Amino acid sequence: MDNQTQIQQQFIYRKLELQDYEKGFLHCLSYLTKTPDLPFEKFKEIYNNYPGFVYVVEDFQAKMIASTISLVIEQNIFENKYYIENVVTHPNYRGKGFIRELLEIIKQDVKDLVKKTDDGNGDQNKEILLELYCKKETKGLYEKLGFYEDGFIASKYV
Ligand SMILES: CC(C)(COP(=O)(O)OP(=O)(O)OC[C@H]1O[C@@H](n2cnc3c(N)ncnc32)[C@H](O)[C@@H]1OP(=O)(O)O)[C@@H](O)C(=O)NCCC(=O)NCCS
Repeated sequence: MDNQTQIQQQFIYRKLELQDYEKGFLHCLSYLTKTPDLPFEKFKEIYNNYPGFVYVVEDFQAKMIASTISLVIEQNIFENKYYIENVVTHPNYRGKGFIRELLEIIKQDVKDLVKKTDDGNGDQNKEILLELYCKKETKGLYEKLGFYEDGFIASKYV
């Protein structure tokens, strides 16, 4: 077995499962944002009502969540909006291309979803817009992955 095959077997790309609560999913997220203590029941409620999909990379040997990214689907007046959220890789696993690969999976899933739901109004080749908000420090990551700056994000505490 060559090294490449071993790497492929160590890491699994998939959607979030409830068992990931025990596999450090929230711990992985904590490297992005301050995560409150979330009892399992609350986690389950969020999991069951999530307005989109959460993707993870699991280190299958360590049974640890190494990386995660979310696709939030918002029903707008005329068409759905697709937002990328919660992008983070555990520091021990950075630089392995996990986010690059997860974004590729999301791109394909969104295209399949639009085809299925006819969100593209019958146009099978319609391009779908993925949107995200990021801080200046990670702008370079998204530019590498083909995103471009588009507009002005405004925030205000009220
Ligand atoms: C940013 C972060 C998610 C990248 O995760 P990762 O799994 O290491 O990313 P990948 O390995 O898939 O990187 C893909 C490419 O982007 C590049 N890249 C990664 N982070 C970058 C950054 N901050 N700025 C510029 N380029 C970056 C990588 O070098 C790689 O390029 P290559 O394929 O040409 O080698 C990770 O560093 C992280 O969790 N940071 C803290 C949380 C955070 O800032 N999240 C983003 C919020 S908007």
